[in-house]
Amino acid sequence: MTILVTGGAGFIGANFVIDWLAAGLEPIVNLDKLTYAGNLENLSSLKGNSSHVFVRGDICDQGLVEKLLAEHKPRALINFAAESHVDRSIHAPEDFIQTNIIGTFRLLEAVRAHVGAISDAEKAAFRFLHVSTDEVYGSLLPTDPAFAETKRYEPNSPYSASKAASDHLVRAYHHTYHLPVLTTNCSNNYGPYQFPEKLIPLIIHNALAGKPLPIYGDGQQIRDWLYVGDHCSAIRAVLERGRLGEVYNIGGNNERANLDTVKSLCAILDGAKPRADGKKYAEQMTFVKDRPGHDRRYAIDACKIANEIGWRPSETPDSGFGKTVKWYLDNDAWVKNVTSGTYRAWVTKQYQ
Ligand code: NAD
Ligand code: TYD
Repeated sequence: MTILVTGGAGFIGANFVIDWLAAGLEPIVNLDKLTYAGNLENLSSLKGNSSHVFVRGDICDQGLVEKLLAEHKPRALINFAAESHVDRSIHAPEDFIQTNIIGTFRLLEAVRAHVGAISDAEKAAFRFLHVSTDEVYGSLLPTDPAFAETKRYEPNSPYSASKAASDHLVRAYHHTYHLPVLTTNCSNNYGPYQFPEKLIPLIIHNALAGKPLPIYGDGQQIRDWLYVGDHCSAIRAVLERGRLGEVYNIGGNNERANLDTVKSLCAILDGAKPRADGKKYAEQMTFVKDRPGHDRRYAIDACKIANEIGWRPSETPDSGFGKTVKWYLDNDAWVKNVTSGTYRAWVTKQYQ
């Protein structure tokens, strides 16, 4: 038995693959296009591990996906592959439509052909797990209840709209073709191997480099932070115990304003690696122009996954932020490699 993972060289996918194999579970076939966000260095700890087969390819290549399904006969396909950065989707939405919508459609078509060709017992055991985001639900007012699975979709960015479209396709393939699907909608993740275009690794990287710490608008936008290892454990739990066709929201009950998140990271850095000039990292904080259409608040109601599946997060931001800062301090070479070249062009475009 194997599982097929897409996007397993990215941030969450790589953590998932590493945790899965560390737990001694089935071998993984890992299909990833290696865009700017995909990085084989994230998987360097698996070098020589015959339980990890990496295939460079595009989820839009239906023939390739069909071939991998026929060859490896996985018991599940877990789809992490996506364009995932809101700011990039605002500058250039095309890739988001292509990978997040067309790519998910091609995967669903490949799986539809596959489950039509396997035995009833294999079909009953097969799962297509689609990894999605809470951003499909839109933005909350301060007094609104947290997002439950029944919340109406109101995506506001090209990124969240493309993920919403992919979720709808997954739902429709279950309803129409009885495809054995599961969907998860998770809040903001942080942890090892996150590309430093997203808030938390960007702040750590800029702080250590002596650069400004850019805070969009008034910094009072709220995100519900979850440690990536907790997201991965939730996906494993949904894969094993989720009910077919159901949606599960995943979150950490950790709502924080961006300004408070940045201040927490600065305080951890002050302790872990004080600035040479004796000043505080918080002095590098800089308010910059807000993101167009910026969602004000996300919050997850994680009751369904807790009650039905028994999953709960194990980290709080206080423990998880500390672990994450330590990881970035210990992995300076990884940061140097991913922030060379095209990363610089992105930073110039976005922040100047
Ligand atoms: P990421 O951008 O770090 O990684 C995406 C990976 O997908 C990369 O390895 C990239 O090379 C690969 N990829 C992109 N296009 C591809 C294609 N056409 N074919 C094959 N591979 C392709 O993203 P992430 O943060 O790891 O997010 C993974 C998934 O989790 C995404 O679906 C995202 O929407 C979802 N999600 C992310 C967060 C978060 O906070 N990062 C939260 C909730 C949900
Ligand atoms: P981000 O990590 O891009 O995730 P998302 O947009 O998917 O929530 O951003 C998290 C929050 O941090 C979001 O409210 C935007 C804000 N932000 C900044 O204030 N400054 C930055 O430089 C970045 C990248 C994000």
